[in-house]
Formats: sequence, structure tokens, C-alpha cells
Amino acid sequence: TDRYAVIGNPVSHSQSPFIHNEFAKANGEDIRYEKLFAEVGRFEEVVRAFIAQGGKGLNVTLPFKGNACRMSTELTDRARAAEAVNTLTFTEDGRILGDNTDGVGIVRDIVDNLDVPIVGKQVLILGAGGAVRGVLGPILAEKPASVTIANRTLIKAESLAHHFADHGSVSAVGYEDLRDKHFDLVINATSTSLNNDLPPIPPGIFTARTLAYDMVYSKGLTPFLKRAQAENAGMLADGLGMLVEQAAESYRIWRGRQPETRKVTNMLREVLA
Ligand code: ATR
Repeated sequence: TDRYAVIGNPVSHSQSPFIHNEFAKANGEDIRYEKLFAEVGRFEEVVRAFIAQGGKGLNVTLPFKGNACRMSTELTDRARAAEAVNTLTFTEDGRILGDNTDGVGIVRDIVDNLDVPIVGKQVLILGAGGAVRGVLGPILAEKPASVTIANRTLIKAESLAHHFADHGSVSAVGYEDLRDKHFDLVINATSTSLNNDLPPIPPGIFTARTLAYDMVYSKGLTPFLKRAQAENAGMLADGLGMLVEQAAESYRIWRGRQPETRKVTNMLREVLA
């Protein structure tokens, strides 16, 4: 039985074991997938112990995606651009392969599951933390007309825009600059939903053609999605689909085949309800 786990702090809330065990069941594969807690400062130690026990791969969640990046002996281009790793693969000959599947996760959820093409669209991303750095590359690879990053701390948005300037048309603004602007796709990548709050967006950024997407998933609508609904945004989505898609991409990296996601997402939606 091949062993995998999700490592984080906290990790008890993680749905990754459920998702990966469902993928394995559907594919008739025998894997063991656990939760692995690490004290801050002990990440590398816990990972080495897992490898020593025969672990084949890890999903990495907060706050360790940067640690996982630094610990990797090889990085994919998308992980290097994100400066963050959410998927580690341990090879027989001792290499540690680092990848980041968050970006493809959100792109597949939006483009394939929600059927909303990103190509040619005006995209607004709220926030400029690690969550944004993780997804900007794959979003820009879809060739949107433009990506605007809005953040409370402007310099962080500017730094990200600069970092990804070679990937496409990307600019940085403060929330006040969004007044009287509209977007086709608005992604909330701030941590505000976790505090039952929303970022300080001025009214009017949503239209009847806008997809409002919250990277956080929750039982009911997040405050951001409620606001989008109140402003008659055309479509609302939370991050559950992204969660399952990033897991599917990790599963593919480890097991060599792409699992079906829709059924697992529906099951997870019921588990959370
Ligand atoms: P993550 O890695 O999850 O992106 P992070 O790096 O802590 O987490 O980033 C959190 C993001 O949420 C940041 O963009 C933060 O804005 P600042 O950079 O200005 O701090 C944003 N954020 C958190 N609380 C917010 C609030 N109340 N209003 C607006 N933005 C907020």
C-alpha cells in the first residue's frame, strides 16, 4: 500500500483524505492517505520521518507551502513561479519533486466545471498573498485580456504584478481604484471569508455577466458571495471545486491517471451541508 498524507498546521479540518480516498476507490487503487500535523519549525523533520517510513507523496497546506518549495530538490516551472509547493513526490532514488497544483485547480474549476472561459476576459483578483501567487501563472496562461490585482497593501499587489509581468497583462491597484470599473471574473483570494468578512470593494464591479468566485468554500454563501449576489452578479461559486481539482492534479502526478472529480465534489458538498 502506497502512503500519502496532507501536512499542515492546523490540518484536522482537511478534506484531502476524503477526496484522495474517493479517487483511489473509483480507480480501484489501494492507497493510504492520512493527515500529518507538524509544529511550525519542524516541517522538514516531519517530512523526512514520513519519507523514512516509505511515504510516496505529500500535499502541503498552510503554513508550509514555502518550506516545501525550499525543501524540493526539483521544481516544476509553475511551482517556481508560485514560490510555493502544495504537492511533494518522493522518488526511489531520494529526490524530492515539488509542484503546485492550485493554479490548474482553479482554472479547471472555472473553465471546465463552471464552463466559463477565461480567454479574453477582464479578470479582477482581490488579495495579494500566497494564495494569489499560487494561481496567477496558470490564470495568465489562459490569456485573459487583463488581470487586475487589488490589495489593501498596494505594494504587495505591485510586487506580484511585477513578478508575473512576463506572463501577461497584469496590473496592481488599491480598492478605491475599482470605483466605476466592471469585471467579467472577480476572484476573492483574500483571507476575509475565514473571518466572516469581505474585502472593501466599492459597489458596481459586478455585472450580469460576472462570475464571482471565492477561493474559500463554505456551507452557505461567504460575505463576498452574498455581496456579489446582492449586486446581481451573473454567477457565484466557492472554492470547493478548486479544492477537488487541485487534489485531482496531485493524484495524477502521483498515480499517473486523472481521476473524475464531479462526483467527489458533489459528495463533499453533501458532507459539508
Ligand atoms: P494567503 O497566503 O492565504 O493569501 P496572506 O498571505 O496572509 O494569506 O494574505 C491574505 C490576503 O488577504 C492579503 O492580500 C490581505 O491583504 P494585505 O496584504 O493588505 O494584508 C488580505 N486581507 C486580509 N484581511 C483583509 C481585510 N480585512 N480586508 C482586505 N484584505 C484583507
